Amino acid sequence: MNHQTIEKNATLLLILSFLVVTIGGLVQIVPLFYLQNTIEKVEGMRPYSPLELAGRNIYIREGCYVCHSQMIRPFRDEVERYGHFSLAAESEYDHPFQWGSKRTGPDLARVGNKYSDEWHREHLSNPRNVVPESIMPGYAFLSGKDVQVKGFGKHLAAMNLVVNNGKGPMYSEEAIENAEADMMAQATGENTDGLMARYPKAVARNFDSDARITEMDALIAYLQMLGTLVDFSTFKADLAR
Ligand code: HEC
Repeated sequence: MNHQTIEKNATLLLILSFLVVTIGGLVQIVPLFYLQNTIEKVEGMRPYSPLELAGRNIYIREGCYVCHSQMIRPFRDEVERYGHFSLAAESEYDHPFQWGSKRTGPDLARVGNKYSDEWHREHLSNPRNVVPESIMPGYAFLSGKDVQVKGFGKHLAAMNLVVNNGKGPMYSEEAIENAEADMMAQATGENTDGLMARYPKAVARNFDSDARITEMDALIAYLQMLGTLVDFSTFKADLAR
């Protein structure tokens, strides 16, 4: 009966619709202004090391995201296949993020440590070498391309300009100054003290058994750390929030 009154009065219907949309809109938008409070703090997260960042750039350049997502949804089938569901904090330093919804290949959010470097090398060179039925394209040329180490500090400084998560610069002056040394250390596995202090859990070794620092090294360094920073044996999700 009451609803009929509203439906027959265009002005009243308009005002009330507007009211409903306003409330709905506010409920969606307001929490975004408090985003700092919505992302839980998680132990272990750190910015990408220079070599990992270079690898990530190659991942984006080659369009790996066209076939691979990097977000494990909190559903049983996903968690059983890929591991613990992705946390918001795990994308904290991802600019741009790589969540995605297209999975021609599997999700890669926790592919780190799943295979050996050699497996990745074979797989990236020609996926059919290790997965005969694979439809993934080969990226053998990455082994022939050097990563530009010189001046990489500028890239870290640029990331500081792009990323503003309210916590101050992502990379310290010290990290920027040592970018080239850290990259060399991670790709050779030598003189890694500074690297490990700045980027705990960084995987430092020669990834492609070649003395040069190639794009293959960088991409494998990136793949091998994906999803490994948070220790899920001690992590407890605060599901009450
Ligand atoms: C045309 C779609 C496509 C593109 C582009 C693609 N992949 Fe794949 N990828 C696949 C498919 C399909 C599989 C599953 C079969 C296999 O293992 O090769 C796969 C598997 C993988 C795996 C193994 C995952 C696992 O858990 O077994 C890794 C690692 C991987 N891709 C990395 C990459 C990287 C890095 C790039 C970009 C350089 C890339 N892929 C680009 C389709 C693609």
